[in-house]
Amino acid sequence: SVLEMEVEQIKKGSYDHFMQKEIHEQPHSLTTTMRGRLKDSGVLLGGLKEHIKTIRRSRRVVFIGCGTSYNAALAARPFMEELTGIPVTMEVASDLLDRQGPIYREDTAVFVSQSGETADTLLALDYALENGALCVGITNTVGSTLSRRTHCGVHINAGCEIGVASTKAYTSQIVAMAMLALAVGSDQISTQARREAIISGLSSLPSNASEVLKLDAEMKELASSLIDSESLLVFGRGYNYATALEGALKVKEVALMHSEGMLAGEMKHGPLALVDENLPIIVIATRDACFSKQQSVIQQLLSRKGRLIVMCSEGDASAVCPSGSCRVIEVPDVADCLQPVINIIPLQLLAYHLTVLRGFDVDQPRNLAKSVTTQ
Ligand code: G6P
Repeated sequence: SVLEMEVEQIKKGSYDHFMQKEIHEQPHSLTTTMRGRLKDSGVLLGGLKEHIKTIRRSRRVVFIGCGTSYNAALAARPFMEELTGIPVTMEVASDLLDRQGPIYREDTAVFVSQSGETADTLLALDYALENGALCVGITNTVGSTLSRRTHCGVHINAGCEIGVASTKAYTSQIVAMAMLALAVGSDQISTQARREAIISGLSSLPSNASEVLKLDAEMKELASSLIDSESLLVFGRGYNYATALEGALKVKEVALMHSEGMLAGEMKHGPLALVDENLPIIVIATRDACFSKQQSVIQQLLSRKGRLIVMCSEGDASAVCPSGSCRVIEVPDVADCLQPVINIIPLQLLAYHLTVLRGFDVDQPRNLAKSVTTQ
C-alpha cells in the first residue's frame, strides 16, 4: 500500500536502500555493540559473568553458524585462539548435523546468528545441548530462540537489520567475539599488553569505520568497471581469510555475480589456473604478519597477467604494487586482528553499488530470505 511504502521510506531516511543505510550506520552500530562493555582494565560482558571460568576450562571452542554469521566466527577464530590458547574449530551448522560430528561435555559451543532463528543453527544447538556442551549465543535479537535456549551469551546490539544481506551485524558480531575472547583470556598475564592494545583498537573502530566509508564514491567507480564481469575472486589469508569469504558472499548474494573467496595460501594449488587478463581478482594485503606472503602472491598473479585490485593499508600502494599496474584500495590501519572489521566495509560498498548498477533488488535478492527458518 501507499502507506506501507511511505513508512519504508521514512525508515530508510536519506538512503535509497536498507543495505546502504546499514553499511553507513556501522560507526554507530559498532559503538552500541561496545557501549558500557569496554574498560581500560578489560571487558565487561554481563551475560557471561557466571560462565567465564567454565569456558576457560573447556578443551575446545567450536564456532557454529551459517552464511555471514559463520564468516564472522571465522574472522574471530585467530584472536580467540591467540588470546585464550584454546583450540578453536569451525562448523557450518548444516554440515555439523550432516556428519553428526563429535561434540563433547568439555566443549564450549559458540552459536552465532543475527536473527537467532536460523533453523540449521537452532538444530545444531539442540544437538550440542544433547551432547552436554556449554552453549553460548552471539545474536542481534533479544528474546530470540537462540538467546533463550543457550546457557549464556552476548547480544551484539547492532540495531534492527532489514537488508537480506547482512552488513552491520557482521562487523558487530566480530567485535562481540573480540570482547568474548578478551574476557575469556583475561586471566593470562603473558597477553596483558596485547589485550590492552586490542581494547584500545576496539575503541577506535567507530572512527576508523567512518574513515573507510569515505571510499564510497571510489567503490562505486570500481563497481562500474566490474559491471560486466562474469566472476570475481577474492584472496585473503590469516586474519582476512574471513574477509575474502564474506566479500565474495556479498557479491554473490546481492549483485548476483559469481564470486569466490579463497585462501591465498591455496592459490598455487588450483585457483592459479583461472588467472588471465580478464578475471578480476581482489587481493587483501593490509599490514599484518602475512604481509610479505601477500606481496609475493601479488607478484605471482601479476607475472600471469592477473587483473588485480589490491586492498592495502594507507600509504602502502607502492609497497603492494611497485609496477603501478594494480588498482589499489587504501584502508586505515587498525590493530591487526581487528582489521577484518574495517576491510569488509569497502567490499560491502562494492557489492552494493554493483547491485544497483546491474539493476538488481538490493534489499530482497532473488531466492533469498533474511532468516531461513526451515531446514
Ligand atoms: C540467511 C541470510 C544470510 C544470513 C544467514 C544466517 O541465509 O540470507 O544473510 O547470513 O541466513 O542468518 P543468521 O540470522 O543466523 O545470522
